Amino acid sequence: MRVGVATDHGGFALKEELVAHLREAGHEVTDFGAHDLNSSDDYPDYVVPLARAVAAGKVDRGIAICGSGVGASVCANKIPGVRAGLIHDHFSARQGVEDDHMNIICMGGRTVGPAVAQDLLDTFLAAGFSQAERHLRRLGKVAALENQFVGH
Ligand code: RB5
Repeated sequence: MRVGVATDHGGFALKEELVAHLREAGHEVTDFGAHDLNSSDDYPDYVVPLARAVAAGKVDRGIAICGSGVGASVCANKIPGVRAGLIHDHFSARQGVEDDHMNIICMGGRTVGPAVAQDLLDTFLAAGFSQAERHLRRLGKVAALENQFVGH
């Protein structure tokens, strides 16, 4: 799978571990940075390019990390076509894709350890959207919001 990864300083160490894990598993990884640890960098500078790549179909899925994962998720969801979720548990890593078609998983470099993060990531990547009618209906209502706010 083509996977994009982005983080600020708050998730830098975790991002490095996850990139190695993904490459070892055979995924094609695009690293949107940060490429160096800089304690005053800003997550939008990395998360927005990742989110745009996911929305444009240049990568299949994304992983957005910051210290808590909150800023990364808020930021990623500003890009039309992105469905990002801040995930801490195995169940949501799977169901967020099956039901909500989540295409970016957000994690906190300061809130999850590397083993849990790997499990969340592997679960997210292995899951597929169900295509169930009720979920398509709900996602249609979410997508309509994007059109509503275009130009405002
Ligand atoms: C940066 O210190 C921190 O605020 C950021 O990584 C993230 O946690 C924001 O949500």
